[in-house]
Amino acid sequence: MDCGESCVRQKKRRCCLIFCVASVLLVVVLAVVWTLVLRQEKGQVQPVFFARCKTFTGYDCQALWDAFQKAYVQRDHCDVPMEAYDPLIAAAPVEPACNTVMLWSKTKDLVHKFTEKNKCFVTLEDTVLGFVLNVNGLTWCGKKGSNKTFTVGCPKWTDCDNNPVRSFWNRASAAFADAACGDVTVMLNGSIDVPVTPDSTLRRIEVKRLSPPRVKSLTVILVIQENSSTGTNCANASLKDVRKDLDRRIKYKCKEVIESQIQECIDSPRNSCGPCW
Ligand SMILES: *[C@@H]1O[C@H](CO)[C@@H](O)[C@H](O)[C@H]1NC(C)=O
Ligand SMILES: *[C@@H]1O[C@H](CO)[C@@H](O)[C@H](O)[C@H]1NC(C)=O
Ligand SMILES: *[C@@H]1O[C@H](CO)[C@@H](O)[C@H](O)[C@H]1NC(C)=O
Repeated sequence: MDCGESCVRQKKRRCCLIFCVASVLLVVVLAVVWTLVLRQEKGQVQPVFFARCKTFTGYDCQALWDAFQKAYVQRDHCDVPMEAYDPLIAAAPVEPACNTVMLWSKTKDLVHKFTEKNKCFVTLEDTVLGFVLNVNGLTWCGKKGSNKTFTVGCPKWTDCDNNPVRSFWNRASAAFADAACGDVTVMLNGSIDVPVTPDSTLRRIEVKRLSPPRVKSLTVILVIQENSSTGTNCANASLKDVRKDLDRRIKYKCKEVIESQIQECIDSPRNSCGPCW
């Protein structure tokens, strides 16, 4: 069939239109599928809990899961106080740790890379409960009248104080600080203006629970950058606030340490428990 110039143009335009619509549809379908997959992955608390729990020996993961669920099932989203997790903490007590407790704020990646290599220090996320639930985006909650664990429609961290996730971390942090003994270390971020905010778990809970004479000292390791004009130093007022929260009988020290020095300790870990600073 003969097709004139305008006919060809029309055909081209129709073809283009079909192609555009098909592309848009494909993108929409992919986006929906992707969201569903992500939501499902995020949603599965129980498999994550068991898989991660099983990497630790000496724990009854089923018993821990049961104790975990009891904290929030049959309760409203925003009505789970930290005490609700007492039975869970009792089922997996944090062993008293002398001179190894490592607290942190705003240094999540670096501190965990460091404690992974340097077994002389332990963060909450290296203990069984901290490890099991330290998964980005993992959320859970219950509902009145149900024994199920929900993962959709749960409150966010800042939505209410007594939400199930926040209360878990509050309770676990409290248990971790309670178990501290001897010299305690805290790794803070010296690249930012305020290394410790009043609403951080460190200030709200951990520092206040360090108790003498079990705990002798708290050493702040303030991670700074070489030749940097921005950031904070040990004289910063937010660090003075930490000192104020601390029991007077506990010694306080602050040390500025260049990040590359810590990175070196991560790259070539020492066998002895000598510090990196
Ligand atoms: C300090 O905080 C900044 C900004 O959030 C971040 O980019 C940097 O990685 C942190 N430094 C350390 C040592 O964690
Ligand atoms: C929830 O579990 C408890 C204890 O196992 C049981 O007594 C109760 O009937 C259950 N409730 C529902 C709504 O399934
Ligand atoms: C130090 O701390 C105070 C108050 O906690 C904060 O406002 C200030 O900006 C901080 N940083 C620097 C670099 O001065």
